Amino acid sequence: MIIKKLSIFQFRNIIHQNIEFDSNLSIFLGDNGQGKTNFVESIYFLSKGKSFRTSDTDPLIFNQADKKAVRILAQVEKEETLNRLEAQILEDKKTFYLNEKRNNSLKIFKNFPVILFSPESLSVIKEGPELRRSLFDEMLLLKDDENIEIISGFRKSLKSRNALLRRYKQGGLGKNQLQDVLEPLNAIYSGYSKELINRRLELISEISQEYDQTVREITNQNVNTFVDYVDEKGVKIRESINDNTLLYKLKERFDLEIKLGTTLVGPHKHDMSFHFDGKESRFFCSQGQQRALILALKLTQILYHHRIYGYYPILILDDVLSELDKDKRAYLIRFLSKNNAQTFLTSTDMEQHQELHNLDLMQFIVRSGTVIKG
Ligand SMILES: Nc1ncnc2c1ncn2[C@@H]1O[C@H](COP(=O)(O)OP(=O)(O)OP(=O)(O)O)[C@@H](O)[C@H]1O
Ligand SMILES: [Mg+2]
Repeated sequence: MIIKKLSIFQFRNIIHQNIEFDSNLSIFLGDNGQGKTNFVESIYFLSKGKSFRTSDTDPLIFNQADKKAVRILAQVEKEETLNRLEAQILEDKKTFYLNEKRNNSLKIFKNFPVILFSPESLSVIKEGPELRRSLFDEMLLLKDDENIEIISGFRKSLKSRNALLRRYKQGGLGKNQLQDVLEPLNAIYSGYSKELINRRLELISEISQEYDQTVREITNQNVNTFVDYVDEKGVKIRESINDNTLLYKLKERFDLEIKLGTTLVGPHKHDMSFHFDGKESRFFCSQGQQRALILALKLTQILYHHRIYGYYPILILDDVLSELDKDKRAYLIRFLSKNNAQTFLTSTDMEQHQELHNLDLMQFIVRSGTVIKG
């Protein structure tokens, strides 16, 4: 999968720009605040339907625009077919098109995926569990269409459940009424939750070998690495669960849930803990080792995607090279050269990255939202 042409209109500080890519590796170079991240963010937005920096649309629109409108267009070649992807923001409404037909952004992401490495993604291990969950759920979304239904079913039923519990807490609902509505909803909620948990477990097991191997290569250490799935009480789950497990837990926590007005049991409270050389990485690994573990997970995700679909997602490496030590940088560059996935990098300069010099790399110099081919 390759973006051949990109056209950007009024996105961030990019007023109007057309770019053609004739190599798999492109780097956006420039001083701080010039628009390097804005360029790769536009590619991410086109694929993922949202930014990685804000959930609002307003900051994405060129702030001196006469009309609040953004347009990003790309010609993407995939399996020898040329596709036209388009994203628009008009006022605060986003719309997405695939080959001129309106399309759902999740479907576009599923078919034209992009994977982002940023300094934030490298700190996923030391941050809260939400980022770790979304990393695995993103892999699930890309894995098959059924997972899209499970994840959105889970989110919807969680939202309804929380709304009910909140209404009860605020006095808008009696206890009997709450129980009447909650009973069928619990069945739906625990059904989706069970599926999501089991699919996360399955995914962890499917990637475990490749992941362990990638960590060994990146760290150059002959140690064992694995990921544990942990429930809301910090208890490891290693085997798939059944419907009753969750219903039982919901009963157990019911009094506390109605007191707090929120759902306390389910996949949104779970975590993935990374074990490196027999130790819980969050507490024992150095910053650089933690970065290596996440970098390895992302690279595993890329290999896994290729294994399932036969093509690579697009990679964005925003400001990442400078966060890695020389050996890890060299490993990453070797990985990119070997695997041939279209990759967009950003950096303030090339000087500090000797390993990039011998590559077939397109350079774009970014200044105040415009690019020129270097
Ligand atoms: N909606 C917008 N309209 C106009 N300019 C914007 C908008 N949003 C951001 N900018 C400008 O874009 C610039 C930041 O761009 P970006 O984050 O891409 O910088 P960068 O080149 O990646 O810098 P760094 O090296 O610091 O990461 C800032 O000057 C900011 O004012
Ligand atoms: Mg930047």
